[in-house]
Amino acid sequence: MVKIGDIELPDFPLLLAPMEDVSDPPFRALCKEQGADVVYTEFISSEGLIRDAAKSTMKLDIYEKERPVGIQIFGANLDSMLKSVEIVEKSGPDIIDINFGCPVKKVVSKGAGAGILKDIDLMVSLTKAMVEHTKLPVTVKTRLGWDHDTIKIVEVAERLQDVGCAAIAIHGRTRAQMYKGDADWHPIAEVKNNPRMHIPVFGNGDVNSPEKAMLMRDKFGLDGAMIGRASIGYPWFFREVKYFFETGEHMAKPTMEERVDAARRHLQMSIDWKGERLGVFETRRHYTNYFKGIPHFKEYRQRMVTTDDSAGVFQVFDEVFEKFGDHQFV
Ligand SMILES: Cc1cc2nc3c(=O)[nH]c(=O)nc-3n(C[C@H](O)[C@H](O)[C@H](O)COP(=O)(O)O)c2cc1C
Repeated sequence: MVKIGDIELPDFPLLLAPMEDVSDPPFRALCKEQGADVVYTEFISSEGLIRDAAKSTMKLDIYEKERPVGIQIFGANLDSMLKSVEIVEKSGPDIIDINFGCPVKKVVSKGAGAGILKDIDLMVSLTKAMVEHTKLPVTVKTRLGWDHDTIKIVEVAERLQDVGCAAIAIHGRTRAQMYKGDADWHPIAEVKNNPRMHIPVFGNGDVNSPEKAMLMRDKFGLDGAMIGRASIGYPWFFREVKYFFETGEHMAKPTMEERVDAARRHLQMSIDWKGERLGVFETRRHYTNYFKGIPHFKEYRQRMVTTDDSAGVFQVFDEVFEKFGDHQFV
């Protein structure tokens, strides 16, 4: 069994990665239903939270049905991070996760996200202060290092553990790599193989097939897989991995009925959460993904992304089911 603080998880849990503009409550709920064992919010700026920026505070919303859920925050200023821990706690998450991995310039240039990989002492002291400031388990998500020449993840992970970090998820790329090349899981396995490590070590990066998840478990010996891009528009990825683990076989792809149902529910949950206009507008790019790979679908895709009212979009979903209901996905 794998434990994050007191949270008990099944063997080799599957975690939905934090993803900006993707990992919102409706999407997290769908992934949870399909087998994600832990879900994370997208990253939330500590400075934004303190300013009470409406957009930031909305990102704190969580559904009971998605637990256990981690809220991820980023920042490099101790005061702001501690204040935002207090704000985040009010939303009642199960975990507080610190983003020490975001590679984008506007975050890194402020020393936050992966920027902190240039100052490991600060990374450790921030984590320590946050652990001491909350009763919730504090986890860290990070990368291998700043660049290829400065990979010290084994030492970094041990230091984070020593100040009370409850679990660490490591993306097998450096900041310099951004998203290029293949994720390297070898250094993550080194972290796990350090005899002093006792907290869960989760692998992240390029888990895009059940076979790769199995490799991460069996060859690299990691404690769980954090899954990002493979789940975008495809929450069924989680159940497919679990089915493969149980049977050694590939699960049948989700039927058209399941896809239409997911699209409908995604849209409905988004509307309930954000209101009609934003719900329709911001869910578009999700629900079109549910229908990838269907031939002669262009007209329907077009209507899905241009229809402005939910009744119209639901109507398109009905038509899609009527026309393509028998489509066999392979
Ligand atoms: C659209 C998108 C948004 C992301 N946003 C975040 C984020 O908010 N916080 C974070 O820690 N990582 C973020 N990431 C990185 C992912 O969590 C993950 O580390 C990365 O995609 C590698 O995993 P994958 O190969 O399974 O996608 C994002 C990635 C993508 C593709």
